[in-house]
Amino acid sequence: MGFPVDWIGDTALEGERPLRFSEDIGIDLGTATFLIYSKHRGLILQEPSVIAMTRDTKEVKAVGEEAYRMIGRTPSNIIAVRPIKDGVIADDALTEKMISMFLRKVNAGGIGRFFNIRPQLMVGVPSGVTDVEKRAVLRAAINSSAKRAFLIEEPLAAAIGAGLAIAEPVGSMVVDIGGGSTDIAVISLGGIVVSESLRVAGNEFDEAIIRYVRRKENLMIGDRTAEEIKVKIGAAAIQSKSDILTAEVRGRDLMVGLPKTIRLSTEDIVEALSDPVYKIVEGVKRVLEITPPELISDIIDRGIVMTGGGSLLRHFANVIREATGIPVVVAENATEAVAIGTGMALEMIPLLKDSLISSDNYLRR
Ligand SMILES: Nc1ncnc2c1ncn2[C@@H]1O[C@H](COP(=O)(O)OP(=O)(O)OP(=O)(O)O)[C@@H](O)[C@H]1O
Ligand SMILES: [Mg+2]
Repeated sequence: MGFPVDWIGDTALEGERPLRFSEDIGIDLGTATFLIYSKHRGLILQEPSVIAMTRDTKEVKAVGEEAYRMIGRTPSNIIAVRPIKDGVIADDALTEKMISMFLRKVNAGGIGRFFNIRPQLMVGVPSGVTDVEKRAVLRAAINSSAKRAFLIEEPLAAAIGAGLAIAEPVGSMVVDIGGGSTDIAVISLGGIVVSESLRVAGNEFDEAIIRYVRRKENLMIGDRTAEEIKVKIGAAAIQSKSDILTAEVRGRDLMVGLPKTIRLSTEDIVEALSDPVYKIVEGVKRVLEITPPELISDIIDRGIVMTGGGSLLRHFANVIREATGIPVVVAENATEAVAIGTGMALEMIPLLKDSLISSDNYLRR
């Protein structure tokens, strides 16, 4: 029986249980969501990128789902933090801790108890991350007991995961709208030809809703409330009367300081989101403007593909189609595309080699 193993010793962090019998693994280190994809087991983890720890001793109390539930509700000595902000590593020690905790979680009780094997990791990073950030992610991956780690730019992984034919000499365009960043890229022959990364995505949408509600209604609402309204009744545009939904929103009245409930409609959210939506549309147009003409012609034929949770905002695809005149589709697996793509990329290393960054040479330089 052919085990997907690699017979090399292990050097996990002191005091930590090493990963055992591990297959190669793809990671989407998202601002909002952390996903792990194994080529043999498929999508094996999908949890919020949150870690909870004690304020004074920094002792980690929980990670993922459990830590997320603590946000805004923790006793004063426990804080819940997101180690990745705006699509980049804000805290490498915590990011490392999060990676190793999640990896251990998916390996728990594996049949490799008798083996001592380290996996190869393929980690998706936003295009435009700095060298310092790249090294931080690679170090985090290696220190969390990977044998070798590769970085792949998120839009390339998204394109692979969404099933685009990236290996061909044909242009494909992907717009990945996550929580912290929007990555727009044109891909051909296994590499990114032109791209742009904006720090405007789902979280900025939430903040725009918070600002709108404060300005219009003098009401203070929290991040999670804003996100809930966005998902429930939000849209990038209104196309017909039936698009208009309403929801009750609770917050604190800024005039009197007491709780208050108001009703918002989709029209409010479209207005609140118009500025960040516009910024993303402009980003797509800028990338199209610098795309070589042959590739533009391919993109017109094949359409723009949207991925990431932010692409699920109603009618966002239509807004981009109207602004560019190019057909736009939302990938079926929009929120998992990057993770699936990182996993698939592990099988395409020779093709992608010029687009990947490997810990083997990058950390030694
Ligand atoms: N149905 C929906 N409508 C609008 N927004 C949504 C919907 N579902 C999820 N989102 C938003 O998608 C964002 C998360 O997307 P995703 O999981 O792709 O981000 P991420 O990969 O963690 O972030 P990044 O790629 O920026 O690091 C959140 O802001 C979330 O509110
Ligand atoms: Mg993402």
